Amino acid sequence: MNTSLSMEKDFKYLADRYNPDGEFENKLYVQCNAKRGLRNADGTGIVAGITRISNVHGYLVDEYERVPVDGELFYRGINISDLLDACTEEDRFGYEEASWLLLFGELPTRKDLELYSRLIENCRKIPNNFIDDVIMRVPSNDLMNKLAGSVLALYPYDINPDDTSEVNSLRQSMELIGRLPVMMVAAYQAKRRAYDYKSMYLHMPLDGLSTAENILSTLRADRKYTREEALLLDRCMILHAEHGGGNNSAFVCRAVTSSGTDIYSAISAAIGALKGPRHGGANLKVCAQLDELKANIKDVRDDDEITAYLKKILAKEAGDGSGLIYGMGHAVYTRSDPRAILLKREAKKLVAAKGFEEDFILLDAVERLSPALLNEKKEFATGICANVDMYSGLVYSMLGIPRELFTPLFAVARMSGWCAHRLEEIQTSRRIMRPAYRPLSQKREYTKLADR
Ligand code: COA
Repeated sequence: MNTSLSMEKDFKYLADRYNPDGEFENKLYVQCNAKRGLRNADGTGIVAGITRISNVHGYLVDEYERVPVDGELFYRGINISDLLDACTEEDRFGYEEASWLLLFGELPTRKDLELYSRLIENCRKIPNNFIDDVIMRVPSNDLMNKLAGSVLALYPYDINPDDTSEVNSLRQSMELIGRLPVMMVAAYQAKRRAYDYKSMYLHMPLDGLSTAENILSTLRADRKYTREEALLLDRCMILHAEHGGGNNSAFVCRAVTSSGTDIYSAISAAIGALKGPRHGGANLKVCAQLDELKANIKDVRDDDEITAYLKKILAKEAGDGSGLIYGMGHAVYTRSDPRAILLKREAKKLVAAKGFEEDFILLDAVERLSPALLNEKKEFATGICANVDMYSGLVYSMLGIPRELFTPLFAVARMSGWCAHRLEEIQTSRRIMRPAYRPLSQKREYTKLADR
């Protein structure tokens, strides 16, 4: 929808009238004891709740000081690297197992896993007309936005949408876990046709396939994929399935859930949060950064040349102008992000065969060279490491997945984590989240309209 010229003028006038007081200085936050970004002075997150779902382990505290350690991530107490290794050893898909573990708190038995996989499979059968009426009729250029809207639009299709009992919430969670990948592919196909003037393929999901296989099979025109490719996507999904209650989208999901509202409202809000470039949207920023490096670096093995360019990014003379090196840094991890390590390891298996060696070398160089440069700019007392987004884009690119699906794929995987947090919030918290904001405005007299 284009804004008319006269409205544009009006908006300009309003923009000139808008008179915020400007940024609040850091010292104001200190004076008011306000936790900027819900963080303590040392950058650690304030404790807003308790959870049994996962543990993001990034540092130790000794004599009130943060001590950096190698990062570890546990789903319900189980180290994700053990989950991944077990699946590799047994040469099987693992996302469904991780999803069950997050929701139910225990590893599934073989029977549980079969039942769960069959249920998810049935949930892929989306209500009649939903794809036509909600997705095809109003395609969007932004798939995260489309997914958030589509999740919200599921409400009227649910016979019992507002019942927040555990049984009903579990049923809704499984439906969402099964449906989101199908909705994502349909939204992408609709976007291809409407915005890119390309052919649209609406393949039906096939029974007997894992989530990762179904995504590749419905996404590709010829429905073909290799087992190696599907396993790589599966591993990527396991690593993106959950990341603690404090991560922005899980926290949003819990905050919205705490008001007692329906699951569709809570999950669409979480998708909106994940879209942001400081959160899940960072995988796109890493890709743009990689494109820029490839266009400007003559020799990907020349560390000096890469260092010089990274310095320009930090000085806001290159990159997106934010001064950030994307793919680096994390709110909790200090020495390493286990997801980045495992993803890098999995990606490496296909890099040569898929012809992505140059990309891999460059990303590895950014990971190696950035910490020293970042420390020159600002002292990261506890260290700074590559995060999960550094290598996820590379994995998706190797799988021939279009960029606009990178963040939606994150959402598809994270649905299990969000649902687990919603269930836990319903079961354990039972109190609306209601923090406070210290008011800074002075009292003033009201001036009558005629006197202004
Ligand atoms: N490049 C440049 N500067 C960075 C940086 C990076 N990758 N990561 C952190 N910083 C700077 C911040 O701009 C901030 O500076 P300021 O105090 O002058 O405002 C400071 O370091 C804060 O560091 P820290 O407390 O460690 O980070 P955070 O918890 O506030 O933020 C991220 C964590 C992930 C948002 C941040 O590291 C970032 O923006 N990284 C790049 C985006 C990205 O890859 N996101 C993916 C997240 S999985």
